[in-house]
Amino acid sequence: MITNKKQVTSIVLALLMSLSALAGAHKANTKPEKVFLFAYATDKDKGHNGLHFAWSSDKKNWHAIGPEHSFLRCDYGRWGAEKRMLNPYLFKAQDGMWHCLWTLNEKSGAFGHASSQDLIHWNRQSYPLVMPKNNGYENFEGIEYIELSFKNDNYNISWLSGGIAGVVHTLTTKDFINYTPVKLGLVDNRDDLRQDITIMGKVETGTITEVTWQTAENLIKTHNLSVFKNKQNDESSKDDAVRFANLKPVEGTITVKAAESKKISDMLVGVFFEDINYAADGGLYAELVQNRDFEYAPSDKEGRDKDWNSTTAWSLSGGKGTLAVDSVQPVHTNNKHYAILKSGAAIVNSGYDGIAVKSGDSYDFSIFAKNINGKASGIKVRLIGANGEVYGETSVKGISTTWKKLNAVIKVTKTVANARLEVAPQTTGTVAVDMISLFPQKTYKGRKNGLRADLAQTVADLHPKFMRFPGGCVAHGDGLGNIYRWKNSIGPLEARVPQRNLWGYHQTTGLGYFEYFQYCEDMGAAPLPVIAAGVPCQNSAIDEHIGLGGQQCGVPMEEMGQYVQDILDLVEYANGPVTSKWGKLRAEAGHPKPFNLKYVGIGNEDLITDLFEERYAMILKAMKDKYPEITVIGTVGPAAEGTDYEEGWALADKLDIPMVDEHYYQPVGWFINNQDYYDRYDRSKSKVYLGEYAAFLRGRPNNIETALAEALYLTALERNGDVVSMTSYAPMLAKENHTQWNPDLIYFNNTEVKPTVGYYTQQLYGQNAGDVYLPSDVALKDATTEVSNRVAVSVVRDTKSKDLIVKIVNMLPVAVSTTVNLEGAGTFASSAKRYVLTGAPDSKTAKPVSDTITVGTTFPCAVPAYSFTLIRIKNK
Ligand code: AHR
Repeated sequence: MITNKKQVTSIVLALLMSLSALAGAHKANTKPEKVFLFAYATDKDKGHNGLHFAWSSDKKNWHAIGPEHSFLRCDYGRWGAEKRMLNPYLFKAQDGMWHCLWTLNEKSGAFGHASSQDLIHWNRQSYPLVMPKNNGYENFEGIEYIELSFKNDNYNISWLSGGIAGVVHTLTTKDFINYTPVKLGLVDNRDDLRQDITIMGKVETGTITEVTWQTAENLIKTHNLSVFKNKQNDESSKDDAVRFANLKPVEGTITVKAAESKKISDMLVGVFFEDINYAADGGLYAELVQNRDFEYAPSDKEGRDKDWNSTTAWSLSGGKGTLAVDSVQPVHTNNKHYAILKSGAAIVNSGYDGIAVKSGDSYDFSIFAKNINGKASGIKVRLIGANGEVYGETSVKGISTTWKKLNAVIKVTKTVANARLEVAPQTTGTVAVDMISLFPQKTYKGRKNGLRADLAQTVADLHPKFMRFPGGCVAHGDGLGNIYRWKNSIGPLEARVPQRNLWGYHQTTGLGYFEYFQYCEDMGAAPLPVIAAGVPCQNSAIDEHIGLGGQQCGVPMEEMGQYVQDILDLVEYANGPVTSKWGKLRAEAGHPKPFNLKYVGIGNEDLITDLFEERYAMILKAMKDKYPEITVIGTVGPAAEGTDYEEGWALADKLDIPMVDEHYYQPVGWFINNQDYYDRYDRSKSKVYLGEYAAFLRGRPNNIETALAEALYLTALERNGDVVSMTSYAPMLAKENHTQWNPDLIYFNNTEVKPTVGYYTQQLYGQNAGDVYLPSDVALKDATTEVSNRVAVSVVRDTKSKDLIVKIVNMLPVAVSTTVNLEGAGTFASSAKRYVLTGAPDSKTAKPVSDTITVGTTFPCAVPAYSFTLIRIKNK
């Protein structure tokens, strides 16, 4: 708790200092009543820097307000290059509301709009599509120079359009939600009040509005606060030698206040699974054949890889015959492509970076095949090495002229990391083959179509209370057509719908909803599926057909009825009786008992827009009506503050959403300086699921420093376990050489699993969770705020085992010697198990070390520099 007080104190001090400066200024009354405010975009040709302000008292000398500080950024379209704000136009309405309009890019028929009361907090953005490509505007070249005025009780919006010279396009609106159709007029009728001014030697274009000095000063203070926060965020061990130059080992006491115990969530630590970094295909999903269904498509990589197509990972073996791909009579319409092997052709699959097999183990092989021409006597199947060594072989027989699934087992005679699978039809004629699959029999819990045992076990060893799946951004997809539809991921493998993975590869959906539910059950974790809220990811690329990226207008309203029904059907699939339509499918897949689904996430860090809200409300109502027992989890954007965070929380209040999903990836310094983040939360509002978080440093390592920052913050999460119900570090899995995101929790290749230092933080918390929190006073002798911010303590009790768990995190470069006082917390055994995770801040190899220590009602406890110590004390 002390950290909170100290952080509050430092923030209060900073504010007091700026307030007293302001108070002094008022006394002297030296400030002008009004000044001019210039609103503009730096980087004006590219528009990547957002909205900026400068002020002037005479329209001659301009002062940029933190020229690097953007007060509004466009969140339309693809990450990075496509998020642009060109030629912003700021307008103050009669009701005092500010409106900003801007151009999105050189081709879109939509523009950007956002409003604000104070120019600091901006309301939700919208991107009205006023010139849709599929509705008469095929040839225009984008909206240029958009302006706004107010006449005859209406807001008038006008713009020029590239490709249509000499005319101005106009429309009106009363609310920035409903717009009249576009009219054409003469360019002379434009309301463009943009002006050019020179700031820091550069000519900038923007709008000038007269404002009170207070308005300008608030902008200046906002900028100063962000500078202060950036400095806090920058805190890291790299400066510790200077920051703590004279610091001697610290002494202190930890006094547990047992009488003030409170109930906390017993679901606090779970895991986040997303098919990012090859986490599913080529990762957790144990299938060893890559592109088993010949469904890889150049569009998986948006045409950027010329070798990525339906024969990726396949090649001819032995130099005979030909390999072609056809789609005329597929095994299933959802799985259109298959291979045609002519004139004695054999093919070989290279797996995902090779096929790793173990001597003595058996592997299940299966294939769909049919004779097209001639009569193959069978198919010879071999696991081979680069020089033709054979590590195991088998054959299948019974090929007919219609598609038939054939199965066999291969027993492997040698352990190798880089085998290849050869498939050789025994014929000189033509054979069609598809769904060529090889699975180890030793999957996690021996499941068919199962998971890689070592990887699945490493996750299970975290003792996660729940698992979220299938994303992340994968859940809401890159565009409407890429939304993850759970129904496409169940049933026979050949009938599932594979699709592009927005992280730039391919998803087979072999690891689908049934397998996710099964895995959760096998680990003893509650399933937490996350479903798109009827909108794709706000970072979606442009859909050329309609001429709009981002949320692309959402699932059309006429399709929302079925979309909502699909979500209700998911609950029936998971929990319904075997007599129900969807419960029956679950039973047929091998699981007649319900999966006991209790949580459903709707949305993933979406942009909170009107079209999002409309769809969200529909889904939520349907869920509450039909399944009131299910906890629906809302979403409040991708950051710990900002428009989506504020709008998401406001929506949660308005719609009474039981829990919301927060995400933030932050520098180590943020975690050190924001341990009071949830202490500030209103307990009467929605509960929190911190669904994605991780501490990062330059170079994005996962090391002792990031792991300790997370451990430190987790003490605060336990303290706030009455409002924070669940948390999951993200992302979880990453295959070496196929990583789109760092840091991750567990790295792996085909033969090794490499838990990170951060993994052990999660494991220590996961394996030592409690459901009762015992506050404690931590008194460190002569400690400054900076020192005490680096030491955090959490004491919890696990009601089931009655064990008391003490966690002490020390991010200081010196040891901390404490006396722990457990007076009133119970009667305990005299010895306890201790785990210590410590190392140099940049260590990526540290692991917890355990021993047994003597404890009592009061006992000494010294914790090393840069360490996380956990003591588990048994009740006597
Ligand atoms: O965890 C990686 C990504 O981070 C997730 O897909 C997304 O939700 C977030 O932006």
